[in-house]
Amino acid sequence: MLAVAALGEVSFATTSLPESQLYPPMDPSRSRSSYTARGHRAMVATAHPLASAAGIEILRAGGNVVDAAVAASFVISVVRPQSTGIGGGGFMLYHDATNKKTKVYDFRERAPAAATRDMFVGPQGQSMPFRYGKVEIPDASVNGHLAVGVPGLVDGLVATHASHGRLPLKTVLQPAIKIAANGFPVYPMLAQRLAERATVLSKFPATKKIFFKHDQPLTTGSLLIQKDLAKTLERIATHGSKDFYYGDTAKLIVAEMKRGHGLITGADLADYRMIERRPIEVNYAGYKIVAMPPPSSGGITVLETLNILSESPAANAAYGSTAAVHWLAEAMRRAFADRAQLLGDPAFTKIPLKGLLSLDYAKSLRSGIDPKHATNSRSLPPSVADKFEHPSTTHLVVMDSDGNAVSTTQTVNYYFGSGVVAAGTGILLNDEMDDFAKHPGTPNVFGLVGSDANAVAAKKTPLSSMSPTLVFDGKGELRLALGSPGGPRIITATLQTIFNSLSRGLNLPDAVHAYRIHHQWLPDQLEVEKGGLDTKVIQELKSMGHSIIEHPGMGDVEAVARQADGLVGVSDTRSDGQPMGF
Ligand code: GLY
Repeated sequence: MLAVAALGEVSFATTSLPESQLYPPMDPSRSRSSYTARGHRAMVATAHPLASAAGIEILRAGGNVVDAAVAASFVISVVRPQSTGIGGGGFMLYHDATNKKTKVYDFRERAPAAATRDMFVGPQGQSMPFRYGKVEIPDASVNGHLAVGVPGLVDGLVATHASHGRLPLKTVLQPAIKIAANGFPVYPMLAQRLAERATVLSKFPATKKIFFKHDQPLTTGSLLIQKDLAKTLERIATHGSKDFYYGDTAKLIVAEMKRGHGLITGADLADYRMIERRPIEVNYAGYKIVAMPPPSSGGITVLETLNILSESPAANAAYGSTAAVHWLAEAMRRAFADRAQLLGDPAFTKIPLKGLLSLDYAKSLRSGIDPKHATNSRSLPPSVADKFEHPSTTHLVVMDSDGNAVSTTQTVNYYFGSGVVAAGTGILLNDEMDDFAKHPGTPNVFGLVGSDANAVAAKKTPLSSMSPTLVFDGKGELRLALGSPGGPRIITATLQTIFNSLSRGLNLPDAVHAYRIHHQWLPDQLEVEKGGLDTKVIQELKSMGHSIIEHPGMGDVEAVARQADGLVGVSDTRSDGQPMGF
């Protein structure tokens, strides 16, 4: 029997499950313990050791958690171009332990002013290809210049640093500048993603110049040097975000847009502003869970699913049992149905936030779950939450012993974003326009279906799944900060880590590493990680009506817990992260 963390207790449980029951496969060249770190003063958990090391270097130099998070963010944007970059955007939760306030920053991409509702729909209702010179590439919302939303990452990082950082911006940017200029060895997952996206990346000369050698994408062990990116970062270090939004970098981005008939203009860049928002929260298992509001769908969907699970049999059902998987999947299905129907940019669509997060609404959804049968997703009635109105991304966490923390998720959307590097800048531009519902009712690159609430519109922010999250105990002390990449699996990876920690009493490494499942309403299928469930459990779930498919590695959680015995940082064994603390 597992010990469950009691209300307000300052330490998560230390009991582990047997290895065979818990862990998906991982990089055989690494030990499981290399994904966990302990420290007493501060902890940084990111998806690459160079980014974690940069955060630690800045903390040791007297920086605070924001300095460290900004330094680590710029480094991760250099070393994980498949996931994020300064041509992308993100969300950040920053908790200040002194005044016990959590700030929420939205520096996600926005649609250019010339964007229109049907810009990705062809005359016969088909997805538009992208044409570049004589080349035609499928899916203009994913590949090429039209896919690019106005990037927000630089404004977000520079502005949060200006408000909360302690060290000069120049100091904080040094690690990223050095790594971009001197290069770093391509690691297996980067090489794999380059090979997968090679056809698209090779179409754009400025992209090919950086990521290819002798006409082939860079392979493991070769050095990835990004000289133009280093110069762009240096300009940011000297001039702040001015350069990016209306200086030399802006001019180069606009020139690239003209070259590829993209929509972003100088005015779009000059108009970009990060938005400060109010956090959303629910109480769950005696803890307060604080999350990202819309245009994140992740915060609401995590919190709504937890509400449905509370008072359900899920927490008492054995890990990996038929009942546990069934209840989790049915709760996810219902929260994702609301996501698809109701969520979008709050400046453009009215979101019944209180209804979605109300316990009464969760109770009504829970009462519709049949403990013995899967619900057909299409049979779920249209959402009535308003009646209760009362895929490649990265996450990083920095926390200190006082409970100051940054939890931030950043992205260029699909692997290497649009594939377009703005010539002369080294910046890979995002393809965040695909996160809009281009044809409401039709799935995007992650299979997600959206509604008019998330249709394309000028200056609108596309809906996101990014879910940076904080967990506070009954005394208001920050205990856990976490998040993940993975498109819609961001939401379910974050959710299951919280559920494993708070309801199953798993220690943090196990809570993060344990096998996961995923259900996103449509397509109506229950995804399981290979090897994660007993054959008998799979048979039982099928006989209840679940359509089951295997899906490799769901998410890449980075998490830091603040426990009675110090800080614990954990990176997911599904990827390349490595936490570091001192
Ligand atoms: N681009 C992935 C997300 O924001 O959900």
